Amino acid sequence: MKILLSEAELHDGVKQLADEISAVYEGRPLTIVGVLTGSVVLLADLIRLVDLPLRVGVVQASSYRGATTVRGELVINAEMMPDIAGRDVLLIDDIFDTGHTLVRVVAEMQKLGPASIRTVVLLRKEGRQEVAMEPDFVGFRIPDEFVVGYGLDYEDHYRNLPYLAALEECDLNRPTHEVAAERAW
Ligand code: IMP
Ligand code: MG
Repeated sequence: MKILLSEAELHDGVKQLADEISAVYEGRPLTIVGVLTGSVVLLADLIRLVDLPLRVGVVQASSYRGATTVRGELVINAEMMPDIAGRDVLLIDDIFDTGHTLVRVVAEMQKLGPASIRTVVLLRKEGRQEVAMEPDFVGFRIPDEFVVGYGLDYEDHYRNLPYLAALEECDLNRPTHEVAAERAW
């Protein structure tokens, strides 16, 4: 795989996101809700850089392919989420690809009566969007490649890589422990 964003570049991008977010809410209390599982690394880094009174929660959104659901159908579990009624909410996800996940999760959260909902993503994959919505805050715009690391997975592997890497065609059929990242610098 090829490294697209180094640890240092990711940190700079997340710091910039945190500064933008802090400026928009001007000291008002915020509830940050991370979409599991891809957003956990970003969530952990971002909340330590945002200069606002914060509450933190998570919501689960998974595409199940079980016998009881249609292939790719999104199942949203908001049981672990704090009460968001009347609160300013910032929903945070790893990547905005087609956009369907974020649109669906926002729609579910709207039902719980928040004062406002904004969205932040680490990555926006260019040229893939199928929805009218745009995330309010975007860390990086990346080309249409399958990326892993910094929370993002391929079949539940690689979430722990501290950098962001693009999987190459030849990586897909190899055992994941044999795939090595090539540093581009
Ligand atoms: P969307 O609903 O098409 O926007 O897809 C969003 C979800 O798909 C993300 O939360 C990721 O879990 C997953 N996803 C999309 N592109 C990638 C990728 O390049 N690498 C890893 N996961 C991805
Ligand atoms: Mg995800």
